[in-house]
Amino acid sequence: MSCQPLKGQKALVTGASSGIGEGVALALGAAGADVVVNYNNKPEAAQEIADRIRACGVQAMTLRADVSRENEVRAMFQEMFKSWGTIDILVNNAGLQRDAPFPEMTLEEWNLVLGVNLTGMFLCAREAAREMIRRGIRPEISRAAGKIICISSVHERIPWAGHVNYAASKGGVKLFMESLAQELAPHRIRVNSIAPGAIQTSINRGAWETPEALAALLRLIPYGRIGLPEDVARAAVWLASDDSDYVHGQTLFVDGGMTLYPAFSHGG
Ligand code: BGC
Repeated sequence: MSCQPLKGQKALVTGASSGIGEGVALALGAAGADVVVNYNNKPEAAQEIADRIRACGVQAMTLRADVSRENEVRAMFQEMFKSWGTIDILVNNAGLQRDAPFPEMTLEEWNLVLGVNLTGMFLCAREAAREMIRRGIRPEISRAAGKIICISSVHERIPWAGHVNYAASKGGVKLFMESLAQELAPHRIRVNSIAPGAIQTSINRGAWETPEALAALLRLIPYGRIGLPEDVARAAVWLASDDSDYVHGQTLFVDGGMTLYPAFSHGG
């Protein structure tokens, strides 16, 4: 592996002002990529992350867009292309939860989660794919014409009571990614997902902030620790680099074994 495997590549990470997106954006910068830090409502946090990325000697800029809105997504990509000319790596990361018992779940909660977690991936991937197809491969930059990485979840496989909207969105991401991978392969655009388990961020604070909650969570994680954004970020750098050039249409679970039916560790 070279020390800057993404040198000269232009990346955009959605939802990069916190959590997993922040970790991915920083790691792509450290790996040599120029990075667009997309955010929706935390401009200062995004700016601070962009400053930290620039400290790696690469370019970074912050761009606001609600990924569920077509006009905002298109404007964001236009701005990126105006400044940097093109895109090599899209990390579709923006995602949120609005949990509710099913009988009480509102249409707003359903639409918001599906809009950001699934429609947002469609809108961003479409803009990126158009540009990657137009531009094609530049062998001096990468063996692929582009890389699209979707940040899914273990809940693309594990059903999740009380989170029907979220699980449905991630189940959708699975076949969205796989179908897109099939369709874009002839263009040499690689499409893959990362399915994180419990990663310590604000989205799941309730699951780790008290010792009791953490103990209950760890019973679901055979490897015995909660994940960190860096765990996901390192996988994203690999999937964005030519080191994974023959990996296509796959979901890489980064979950400490959460998908291994931990309840069956004993008995059954
Ligand atoms: C959710 C977290 C949850 C984790 C494991 C993620 O996709 O966003 O809230 O802790 O899955 O259940």
